[in-house]
Amino acid sequence: MKSVTPILIHLIAAARPNFMKIAPLYHALEKEEWAKPVIVHTGQHYDLNMSDAFFQDLYLPEPHIHLGVGSGTHAEQTGRVMMAYEKVLLETKPDMVIVVGDVNSTLACTLATTKISYDPIQNSKFKIQNCGGRRPLLAHLEAGLRSFDRSMPEEINRIVTDSLADILWTPSPDADQNLLHEGIDPSKIVRVGNIMIDSLEMMRSKIEKTVAYEGIGLQPGEYGLVTLHRPSNVDDAGVLDSICQALKRTARKIPIVFPLHPRTRKNLERNGLMSFLKNAEGFVLLEPLNYVRFMSLVFNCRFVVTDSGGIQEETTYLGIPCVTLRSNTERPVTITQGTNMLCKPEDLARTIEGSMPRKGKQHIVPDLWDGETAKRVVKSIRSLRDGRCAL
Ligand code: UD1
Repeated sequence: MKSVTPILIHLIAAARPNFMKIAPLYHALEKEEWAKPVIVHTGQHYDLNMSDAFFQDLYLPEPHIHLGVGSGTHAEQTGRVMMAYEKVLLETKPDMVIVVGDVNSTLACTLATTKISYDPIQNSKFKIQNCGGRRPLLAHLEAGLRSFDRSMPEEINRIVTDSLADILWTPSPDADQNLLHEGIDPSKIVRVGNIMIDSLEMMRSKIEKTVAYEGIGLQPGEYGLVTLHRPSNVDDAGVLDSICQALKRTARKIPIVFPLHPRTRKNLERNGLMSFLKNAEGFVLLEPLNYVRFMSLVFNCRFVVTDSGGIQEETTYLGIPCVTLRSNTERPVTITQGTNMLCKPEDLARTIEGSMPRKGKQHIVPDLWDGETAKRVVKSIRSLRDGRCAL
């Protein structure tokens, strides 16, 4: 039973990679009598296997608030989230809003939160000057990552979110540096580590007991795992075709498991590449998987090919070779310290063949990627409440 009036904290969840970031934080805040965490799902991802399955896997309750915005162009999706969330802000008046990652909903909720004005102004639960009860404090978890590639929608989302956030929780020193270079007040930056690793550690025993490879006829260490969804790889028919050709060449040597993101499936079908992959030797094409089954495939694979951000980090943590089909990454420590390497579509087959024997390569787990990030975030919020932070 919570005895004091708790701090009302909205956790914004929107798309698949967000759910692993809010889960450990939700569970950590739930234990604190001074905090009332509320999950706000914007509905950016809505399929059962892109959303609900993750809530069940990560022991999250049903979202307390659901905006149900669905898909659309960038402006449509961002605008719909802003309009729906503004109403929720005015009705519920949270003390703090926590956005995670870099998806369109992260940006939309940041804009709605930092432009809202409560009427009447409420007593701030935070002993800091910043918003003076006029609006909630806005915190960004996974702040400071930069690919320096503004053709990526996520980069725009990161830059705008970080420039508006009151508190920036970063995963690594490069992120701190990026923020300082952009002129962010150092007192707003708190390095807390990588929250994705909290989810992995929270679910480790369940992942290790799950043998997802068995049901699809594979042996541990004897397959590659592929995930693709970035517009730069899947929206252009020529690029997608050259990736499929390279994967076909690899699949003749070692089976390839390929869970298909809805965007990727749509583009494979549109370009006649679905039947090409189905008829090629060595492919296992799957629907998107829940967190535990997917991580079970990661734990046991020989190598990963991906364009995801989070998977670059998980493979670095686990020491699994990762070929990232991008020309840049906002997560450089996965290259300098981890097992990640960047690759162009035309070099894919050769790069995979070179990376296969790398299992066991020396790698360093970056500092504060230790499963304790949620605890550090909770500590940071407590410091803000007690006025022990400058801001
Ligand atoms: C979004 C994020 C990206 C993140 C990715 C993880 C942005 C700009 N992009 O990209 O950073 O890495 O999520 O998946 O926010 N669709 C479904 N069912 C769903 C969700 C989407 O069928 O549950 C289809 C829709 O046709 C939609 C398309 O997938 O138009 C793309 O979805 P969207 O959320 O717009 O972008 P993602 O490519 O998933």
